Amino acid sequence: MDLGLNGRVFVVTGGSDGLGYATAKSLLSEGARVAICGRDTRRLDDAAEKLRAVGGDVLSVPADVTRAEDLEALVTTTVDRWGRLDGIVNAAGVHTGNRFESISDDEWIADYELKFLAAVRGIRFALPHLRKTAGAVVNVLSTGARAPGKRGMPSAPLRAAGLSMTKALATEVGGDGVRINAMLVGVIRSGQIVRPAVEAGQDVDEYLDHLARKLGVPLGRIGEPQEFGDTAAFLLSPRAGYVTGTAVHVDGGLSPVI
Ligand SMILES: NC(=O)c1ccc[n+]([C@@H]2O[C@H](COP(=O)([O-])OP(=O)(O)OC[C@H]3O[C@@H](n4cnc5c(N)ncnc54)[C@H](OP(=O)(O)O)[C@@H]3O)[C@@H](O)[C@H]2O)c1
Repeated sequence: MDLGLNGRVFVVTGGSDGLGYATAKSLLSEGARVAICGRDTRRLDDAAEKLRAVGGDVLSVPADVTRAEDLEALVTTTVDRWGRLDGIVNAAGVHTGNRFESISDDEWIADYELKFLAAVRGIRFALPHLRKTAGAVVNVLSTGARAPGKRGMPSAPLRAAGLSMTKALATEVGGDGVRINAMLVGVIRSGQIVRPAVEAGQDVDEYLDHLARKLGVPLGRIGEPQEFGDTAAFLLSPRAGYVTGTAVHVDGGLSPVI
């Protein structure tokens, strides 16, 4: 199926690794042009090089999404380069989960700025452009948004806020033709997921198999980033033109709720 993305332009935050990188790759393989960002410029440039090898136009913009000026520059640079914007994927982030009483105010605020406010700001900067193209937004959240678990904080409550924002904003901008959706991730192979195994010198595939068994993932395995990227590309495409204000679980059936 042709997703109809040829020539379209997307911003993917956190595109230098994991789910953001996989999304950029899927979009490029459909003929889209993609701007990615991250803080580590070396990793960002390496990722951009690898993505260019997939074919297509890639822009790498060093940016910390917790800084409003960086996000604004990311969107502006992308539109200056290609003259349009068809979508933004808010994928930058890190896993956080700790005992409630051990989390300081500063940690709550930092996680809020990274997981919620960054998406709000990114969308705010993108919206004037998305209105012109009937564009789309994908907010990358986690299954914890609907099914918070033990040691799910600060992340889970902030993911729930992201889910609520996704729905509320979809109702507000639907009349302009702009679609806003969320993706609720279970466990998918990415930099942050494999890091403990890499640091312990453990075989990554064995570690992921063990993790899937321990968690009881119904599909019996951890997800692959491209499975995420392809779903994101579909949601961003005109093929999903009647899909808005909703959340798609990409979790191998792990979430206990629908
Ligand atoms: N993979 C999973 O199983 C899973 C599950 C649930 C939720 N998620 C969520 O999905 C999102 C993506 O995770 P991932 O697994 O793809 O992680 P990852 O492989 O560690 O990649 C994270 C990406 O985000 C970037 N990033 C982090 N903080 C940033 C900041 N302040 N400004 C700009 N870029 C930043 C990183 O680059 P730099 O570090 O260089 O900035 C990197 O490109 C996160 O919000 C994560 O919590 C993932």
